[in-house]
Order: sequence, then C-alpha cells, then structure tokens
Amino acid sequence: MTTIENGSGTRELAGKRALVTGGSRGIGAAVVRQLLDAGAEVVTTARTATSTMPEGATFVAADLRTRAGAEAVATATREVLGGVDILVDNAGAARPYQGTSAIPDEEWQDQLDLNYLASVRLDSLLTPGMREQRSGAIVHISTAAVPLTTPPFLHYTAAKAALENYSRGLALELAPFGIRVNTVTPGRVVTPGGEATREQWARLDSGPVLDHTTVPLGREGQPDDIANAVLFLVSDRASWVTRSNLVVDGGEFPRG
Ligand SMILES: NC(=O)c1ccc[n+]([C@@H]2O[C@H](COP(=O)([O-])OP(=O)(O)OC[C@H]3O[C@@H](n4cnc5c(N)ncnc54)[C@H](OP(=O)(O)O)[C@@H]3O)[C@@H](O)[C@H]2O)c1
Repeated sequence: MTTIENGSGTRELAGKRALVTGGSRGIGAAVVRQLLDAGAEVVTTARTATSTMPEGATFVAADLRTRAGAEAVATATREVLGGVDILVDNAGAARPYQGTSAIPDEEWQDQLDLNYLASVRLDSLLTPGMREQRSGAIVHISTAAVPLTTPPFLHYTAAKAALENYSRGLALELAPFGIRVNTVTPGRVVTPGGEATREQWARLDSGPVLDHTTVPLGREGQPDDIANAVLFLVSDRASWVTRSNLVVDGGEFPRG
C-alpha cells in the first residue's frame, strides 16, 4: 500500500471526510484508494457494489440520475461521516450513437442527469454544511472530449461542457466560504467503462476511433494518473487553486 505523507510523517488527509461518487471501479476506485492511503475517511457510491471496491470505504448504493438518489447519498454520508470536507463528483458514463439524430430524447435527459445534474444536486445538498464549517474541496470529473464535439458523443460532451461551466461559477460563489471547486479532465483512461464505450464506438460507422498512438506521452492513462490530480486538488497543497480545470490526457486532446 502507498502511504501519502505530508513530510512530517502524518498522513496528509488524516481527519478529512470524503465522498466519492462512482467509486466501485475505474477512476473512482483509484480516487477512493488514494484518499484512504492518505488517511481520509471515505464514503463511496454506485448503483451496485463490486468485488473491485476498495476495502476500507463505506459503500452506499444509489442511482445518481435522480434527485432521490442524490438525497439518499447525501443523507447516508452525513450519517456516516457527520459532514464532508472533500466531495469528488466522478460517477459518469458515455454511450455513443450513430449521430445526433439517432440519440433519443430520453438519452439526452439521461446523460444530463448523470454527467451534469447529479453533481449539481449533490453539491447543493452538501455545500450548506461546507459553508457552515467554512472549508471544503470539490472536484468535478469532466472529459477531454468536450472540445472535440464528436457527433456520437454530443449528448455526453454537452453535459460535461455544462459541468465545466457550472464548476467555474460555483467556485466563484463558494470562494468566500473557503470552499475550493475545481475540475479534473481525463483523456483516454483504461477503465471498465472507458473500454466498453470505445468498443461500442468502434462498432459504429462514425469515422476513426482514436487510439493510444496519438497520445504525445506515448501511453493511455491509468486510473491512478487521474487520482493523482484529484488528490493534489483536494489537499492543502492546492490551497490557492480554485476555478481551475486540470487536463490529464498525456497531451493528446485539443484545449478548448
Ligand atoms: N475512462 C475514460 O477514458 C474517461 C475519459 C474521460 C472522462 N471520464 C469520466 O471519468 C468518470 C469515471 O469514468 P470511468 O471510466 O472510471 O467509468 P467506469 O469504469 O464505468 O466507472 C463509473 C462509476 O460510476 C458509477 N455509475 C455509473 N452510472 C451511475 C449511476 N446512474 N448512479 C450512480 N453511479 C453510477 C459506476 O457504478 P454502477 O454502474 O454500479 O452505478 C462506477 O462506479 C466519468 O465521469 C467519466 O465520464 C472517463
């Protein structure tokens, strides 16, 4: 196990209470593991618990596409942790379609609910406590595909673009309360969800699917590459960082 210390032998996030959404696998599971290694107390959530769940975190099952799901997670988190210092809004998914006209109405709504409104709802439920304590760190997970606006994913990238815009505004609103809000934007990362999406995309007749030979740093990302960035942003090392978007993509995607 990696232990993240602050140089004085103390685990860097000891005493911090964290909620990570989508922590059952992929990027979320890596964030949960790193937070636990750094000494934080962690609650995580997904619709279903899995065998890849990191040990040591409390799991809450909920579907975050609904207000009721967000309320259930917020209530359970407050019961378990007493409050929240760190909120990582990570749960998300992309489903490619042949083009925008092939994307049904319900799918646009579903992608907005999961990739944008789930964060808005959870933030609105948990930031009152952060305001009272006058501290907190929130990280939203976007995607480096936003500036590409690739037609099979427009409902997904539009939802994540909204998330990035909202994240910058929320940072302004919460800065006077000592709450920092940032975005981490992953490129192509090897996760169960990422691989499944790229396989579905490859089966569509929609142009070339990017592969890792186009990554300037020469490899695909791993979940810990993203978790490293998240851990930086929620730690005191980033105490003067808010309203930022940290792109972690090996240099591959256009900056938008
Ligand atoms: N992997 C990539 O290449 C990549 C690139 C750019 C951005 N991202 C972003 O990074 C984040 C994590 O992606 P990942 O690749 O780690 O995905 P993943 O392997 O599919 O993991 C997604 C996590 O979110 C949970 N989740 C999905 N739908 C949910 C729902 N309706 N309610 C509650 N939880 C839900 C999943 O659990 P359940 O299915 O059991 O609910 C799982 O824990 C996402 O926001 C994604 O958009 C990923």
